[in-house]
Amino acid sequence: MAKYVIEGGKKLYGKVNIESAKNAVLPIIAGAVLFEEPVIIEKCPKIDDVLNMIKIIESLGVKTYFRNDDLVIDASCLSSSNILEDLSKKLRSSFFLLGSLLSRNKKATVSYPGGCKIGKRPIDIHIESFKSLGVKIVEGEENIECSLEKLSDKNVILKYPSVGATENLILLLAISNVDVKIYNVAKEPEIEDLANFLNSAGAKIYGVGTDVIRIVGVKKLKGISYKPIFDRIEAGTYMIATAITGGEVEISNVNPKKIQALLNKFYNNTCKIGIKDDIITISSEKRLHGFFVETNPYPYFPTDLQAQIAVLGAVSDGYSKIKENVFESRFEYVKELVKMGANVKIKENLLEIKGKKLLGAEVKATDLRGGAALTLAGLVAEGETVVLDVFHIERGYVNFNGKLKNLGANIERVE
Ligand code: UD1
Repeated sequence: MAKYVIEGGKKLYGKVNIESAKNAVLPIIAGAVLFEEPVIIEKCPKIDDVLNMIKIIESLGVKTYFRNDDLVIDASCLSSSNILEDLSKKLRSSFFLLGSLLSRNKKATVSYPGGCKIGKRPIDIHIESFKSLGVKIVEGEENIECSLEKLSDKNVILKYPSVGATENLILLLAISNVDVKIYNVAKEPEIEDLANFLNSAGAKIYGVGTDVIRIVGVKKLKGISYKPIFDRIEAGTYMIATAITGGEVEISNVNPKKIQALLNKFYNNTCKIGIKDDIITISSEKRLHGFFVETNPYPYFPTDLQAQIAVLGAVSDGYSKIKENVFESRFEYVKELVKMGANVKIKENLLEIKGKKLLGAEVKATDLRGGAALTLAGLVAEGETVVLDVFHIERGYVNFNGKLKNLGANIERVE
């Protein structure tokens, strides 16, 4: 299995261009299944999660192909509503297809979803909200069987603003004959992007980015070409990498307003941030001071940058505290970081860190973001770091080692 071999100590300099967001592209692919006309997803990142999602929709009879970097999806020939277990186990986002399949075929069978092992990741909010809208659901040992005769137009209140459940509901209701309000929805920019995608094809989804959205079902959607939003987690990862190693990096194709929570952490510290249009420049000469970060749903600090910023804390000057409020076991990577000499203590969902020099070691990527964080640790550690199981990282980052190498890192991918 592939690994990264890193010789630490190089500062990062140069430019890096940010891709379309994995977490926008995946629900948009599920959204493309609602269309009876072809849809084009421009500059679609060819990362493993996206390639697996493509395999899943192809297994349902949907035709797809890449035209250079653009993904063409033609779901006019959708023939099955049954997502095979081995495919859905690979990818939590396969669960988003439930909404689309029910909308198109009035029935769907999915197995319990896979994805990163970062906590229990239940699906009760999806299930309860679907049931309240009239979907019949039978939860078996392996599979969940769903069917739909008639949607109810009762409003829905989510008990927690789940990103996936909000997206699944949008996909269930976009083409329908009901007009429904959903309260306490998630406000992540990727949800706004899913709504923009569907609205530009004729859907009527209002209020995205606020606590309440209203979906007025339409009869059909017209085929469009759409460029998804930038990946704020990828952008944040390169910003944190630069803060960790020192240097100066220009990060392009970003909307700085969408990563304000991360920028706020840098403004009060020793590094410098410059913003011009869609480019953020970060330069860092000195070690950063310790800081406090607490993850919460958007617009607060994203859980998907928690591990990366913890590594920044591990090499900063003084003490840092990181509180994880979204997932209950998202500190799996910490035991690997300890192998590199990090001085950390876990107290339930709180990580206490005293910054110090890290030393190269052999570590294992435990999940997507944890793996990226360990790679960043390797960039600054003294000596050689080997990051094993980088398939986790490659599920979500385009050419991670190549982009870091372009910035001057001493990193090789070894098969
Ligand atoms: C999405 C993102 C993931 C990110 C997360 C939070 C995608 C493909 N993935 O995941 O990268 O880390 O948002 O920003 O977009 N929960 C329940 N019951 C449910 C659903 C969720 O209790 O039915 C809980 C989860 O266990 C978790 C919290 O709600 O503790 C947040 O989950 P959710 O917002 O649903 O995240 P995902 O959609 O899985």
